[in-house]
Amino acid sequence: MTSRTLFVTTALPYANGPFHIGHIMEYIQADIWVRFQRLTGAQIHFIGADDAHGAPIMLKAEKEGITPKQLIDRIAAERPKYLKGFHLSYDNWHTTDSPENVELSLDVYRKLKEAGLIYVKPVEQFFDPVKKMFLADRYIKGECPNCHSKDQYGDACEVCAKVYSPTDLIDPYSTLTGAKPVLKTSDHYFFKLSDPKCVAFLEKWLQDEGRLQPTVVNKAREWLRGTGDQKLGDWDISRDAPYFGIPIPDAPGKFFYVWLDAPIGYLASLKNYFESGKARANGETRPYEQFIAAPEVEQIHFIGKDIIYFHTLFWPAMLKFAGRKIPDNVYVHGFIQLGGSKMSKSRGTGLSPVRYLDLGMNPEWLRYY
Ligand code: MSP
Ligand code: ZN
Repeated sequence: MTSRTLFVTTALPYANGPFHIGHIMEYIQADIWVRFQRLTGAQIHFIGADDAHGAPIMLKAEKEGITPKQLIDRIAAERPKYLKGFHLSYDNWHTTDSPENVELSLDVYRKLKEAGLIYVKPVEQFFDPVKKMFLADRYIKGECPNCHSKDQYGDACEVCAKVYSPTDLIDPYSTLTGAKPVLKTSDHYFFKLSDPKCVAFLEKWLQDEGRLQPTVVNKAREWLRGTGDQKLGDWDISRDAPYFGIPIPDAPGKFFYVWLDAPIGYLASLKNYFESGKARANGETRPYEQFIAAPEVEQIHFIGKDIIYFHTLFWPAMLKFAGRKIPDNVYVHGFIQLGGSKMSKSRGTGLSPVRYLDLGMNPEWLRYY
C-alpha cells in the first residue's frame, strides 16, 4: 500500500474569544480522522491557526482599551490549554496576523490581478458619521419595512424572516453610536467570480466525484447557478479604514476583507510549520513551496456548514487563478444545537469547554460521545 501524504486543516476560529464546545466538536472530529490516518501509515500535517482580522476584533479591543494585537495575543495564549486538554494532535497552530500570511495574501492577490480577475468599482453604503466608519449590516438596526418590528438587523428581520438591504430599514441607526447612518460612496475591490473561466472552473470542481458530500455540492450549485439576488456575484474583497487587516498595495486606506486572508492562513500556518523546522522533525524534508505544489499531497479541510460558501466557491477559485493547487476534499459538519438553534457565544448559549476540563471530566468521554 502506498502511503498518503495529507495536509489537514480545521476552520480558523475568530480570535475575539475563547473556544466554545462547537469548535471543540469540529476539532475532535478531525482529530479522530487524523489519528486513524496516522495509524494506516499516512504522513500527516495537521494544521490550525487563529483568524485574527476583521472589524469585530478591532471593535472589541477598542472597547477594552487595548490594541487588536494585544487582544489576539491574549486569546492565543489560552489556546494550548484547550488543545492539550482535549488531546487534539495538531502539528502546528499559528495566526493570520503573521508575516507569512501577509506575504502569501499579497502573492495570491497579485496573481489574481495578473489574471485579470480584480477590478475596482464605487459602492454606496451606510456610514456612521460619529464613528467615521462604514457599517457592516450587523452594525445597523431599524424598523422592519415589512412587519414593522423594531430593532431589526440590516440584512433580515428576525420576526417575519424578510430579507432586505439596510437601506430598506425605517429609521435606521448605528448600533455602535446610535447615530443615524448616512449614505456614502467609496471604491471597493472585487474578485470577478462571474468571469466565464471562474464559473467553468467551479462547475467542474463541484462535479468531481468524491470531492464533496452530495448535499454540499447541491447547495454550492444553487449559489453558482442561482437566479437574481441568489446568484453568485463578484466578491467584494476590500474594506475601508478603520479596519484591522492587511493593507492592499497601492490603495491607501483599503484593506483586504478578512475572508480573503483567512483561508490563506491555512497556507501561512503550514509555511510557518515548515520554516520553524517542525515539518522536518515530522519526517517531511521538502521545503514548503515544493510540498504545497506536489501533486500527491492531499489538501483536506474540515469545516462547519455555515462557511461552505467560502470553502467551496471563493477559496478554490482563489487558489486556481493564483496558479496554485486546489483542495482535494472539504468535509462539512452540522452544528451542536441548544433549544433548536446553533449554539453560539453571541446568543449567550455557548457552553465553555474549559469548564468541562476544570470539573475534571475525562476528555475521552466527550470524544466517545
Ligand atoms: N473565522 C471563520 C473561519 C475561517 S476559516 C478560513 C469562522 N470562525 S468561527 O469561530 O465562527 O467558527 C469556526 C468553526 O467552528 C466553523 O467551522 C464553524 O462552523 C464551527 N462552529 C461554530 N459554532 C458551532 C456549533 N455550534 N457546532 C458545531 N460547529 C460550530 O467561521
Ligand atoms: Zn419583519
